[in-house]
Amino acid sequence: MRDRKEMLAAAGTDTRLCHVGNDPMSYHGFVNPPVVHASTVLFPDVQTMETRSQKYTYGTRGTPTTDALCEAIDELEGSAGTILVPSGLAAITVPFLAFLSPGDHALIVDSVYGPCRHFCDTMLTRLGVTVEYYDPDIGSGIEALIRPNTRLVHTEAPGSNTFEMQDIRAISEAAHRHGCVVTMDNTWATPIYFKPLDFGVDVSIHAATKYPSGHSDILMGTVSANAAHWPQLKEANGTLGICGSPDDSYMILRGLRTMNLRLEHHNRSALSVATWLEARDDVARVLHPGLPSFLGHDIWKRDFKGASGIFSFVLKVDDRESFKPKARAFLNELSLFGLGYSWGGYESLAVMVDLSDRKIRKAPAEGPVIRLQIGLENVEDIIADLERGFRAAAGA
Ligand SMILES: Cc1ncc(COP(=O)(O)O)c(C=O)c1O
Repeated sequence: MRDRKEMLAAAGTDTRLCHVGNDPMSYHGFVNPPVVHASTVLFPDVQTMETRSQKYTYGTRGTPTTDALCEAIDELEGSAGTILVPSGLAAITVPFLAFLSPGDHALIVDSVYGPCRHFCDTMLTRLGVTVEYYDPDIGSGIEALIRPNTRLVHTEAPGSNTFEMQDIRAISEAAHRHGCVVTMDNTWATPIYFKPLDFGVDVSIHAATKYPSGHSDILMGTVSANAAHWPQLKEANGTLGICGSPDDSYMILRGLRTMNLRLEHHNRSALSVATWLEARDDVARVLHPGLPSFLGHDIWKRDFKGASGIFSFVLKVDDRESFKPKARAFLNELSLFGLGYSWGGYESLAVMVDLSDRKIRKAPAEGPVIRLQIGLENVEDIIADLERGFRAAAGA
């Protein structure tokens, strides 16, 4: 039999997702890996214990279940190693703690996921790290912001809620000229639509809570590093004692098998809805990188292989006082869309976006920003629901 790894590396996306992290013959032929619940691992003798010369030593250091997921993610990301953490937010904070020290300066994109900003402005600042936010459009211009003590450049593309694209390769090259670590929150694209390490990123971050889970029932984060940064990430992970549970790992591995099929559906439906929204008079702008009218579209087209199911639009509202009442009327009228945080599940969700913490990329002036996660429902039903919302907003 040909080497399985070699065969998979050359295979199509669906094939790879069906088989990554899977080794049935090492588990009596069962198709899926076992869910190993573990804290204690026994050693056959004291010598083995002293030298820790066996594959598994303690539950926090990995089990066959967590290893299967890490191997699958490494295969998809092209990374040297992956750690699992209990949430997407922890997938951001753990590498920041791994690579930053008191006195360091960190550059964070202004369109970053909100709770990441909160971590930076509170705990990271308290630990003596200086944080500076930069414009997502900066590209190689980031070099002008790099100081002698800049240690980390954090990217997220598209940005949270407003979906600004970033020239990841240009930013990585500039950052590496100064010895900085480049991290990227790649949750939106998943490694199916964008592979950060191929564009110079050192550490790729995912809220596996979203598309890998796919069903709004699991919280998990993954952090994958290239060979140069893997030892430090792994060491920090072990030091902090933060790990993913075997049950959740199993469920994420299960979700991965169908992720590409789901993504294709999300991609298609979200683009249809975005195009429909763009043609409406009561919509000022649609913030979706896959639309040619969107500012970062050219970067998206050049670097990404697809778009997922979440984007925003700006409701057209004349006076600022009516922004919130109109948005509330719109959202309250929706019945298919749930009002809820997160995304990547099978169901459609809507939320009014708060951009008050932005330093550079301020909120649009034309109206409130409403974020939509387009689920796997039929597009006609999704559009009919949104139409009801627009009618209610018009009457508010
Ligand atoms: C871009 C992005 N990164 C990270 C996270 C955090 O994921 P979790 O909800 O698993 O903490 C989110 C959650 O919405 C997100 O949108």
